[in-house]
Amino acid sequence: MTYALPAHLASLVDAPIRMEVLIGPPGCGKSTWCTQNRPGDAIHNLDTYRAWLTGSADDQSMNREAVDWQERDMHARLREGQLVVVDATSTVPRFRAADLDAAARYGYRARAVVFRTPLRTCLERNGARERVVPEHVIERKWAEVAALTAVDLYAEGFADVVEVAA
Ligand SMILES: Nc1ncnc2c1ncn2[C@@H]1O[C@H](COP(=O)(O)OP(=O)(O)OP(=O)(O)O)[C@@H](O)[C@H]1O
Ligand SMILES: [Mg+2]
Repeated sequence: MTYALPAHLASLVDAPIRMEVLIGPPGCGKSTWCTQNRPGDAIHNLDTYRAWLTGSADDQSMNREAVDWQERDMHARLREGQLVVVDATSTVPRFRAADLDAAARYGYRARAVVFRTPLRTCLERNGARERVVPEHVIERKWAEVAALTAVDLYAEGFADVVEVAA
């Protein structure tokens, strides 16, 4: 099967992958998978920056600053050719596009890691943890991911798409 690579990425058709964008609803197991499978300094998660800036990963009061710092670190790693793992829900296409563009700016492409955790499992895990996300948010984001195919992601410009049954 062939896919149309977005025109602005055409020169990067053979470029190496230096970014992984996790895609999955809250509670699906993204951060757990990251800590088990990827080096800690590659993992970019806003919780880490919120905790660093405010003392609590749940404190949303400095979100703008958290995003800015995360972006800064992401660019610094890409500039050095080091892997960046974006540990966010990434269900919104324009956020995925921004990540792909950041990698492209340094001559790299990205892999999508899609979490196919059943909705019931996400809701059960969410209910059992300390920070509980509203169920309607999980249901909405789960449906967004369920509607997303590998073909969609290749067409967005991802170089590789893998699915995790976490
Ligand atoms: N494979 C697994 N088996 C059993 N429990 C798991 C598994 N993966 C994650 N969990 C548990 O499920 C809960 C949610 O996992 P995790 O925090 O990794 O999800 P997440 O996708 O990062 O969520 P969020 O988007 O809200 O950060 C945690 O309590 C974690 O311990
Ligand atoms: Mg997480």
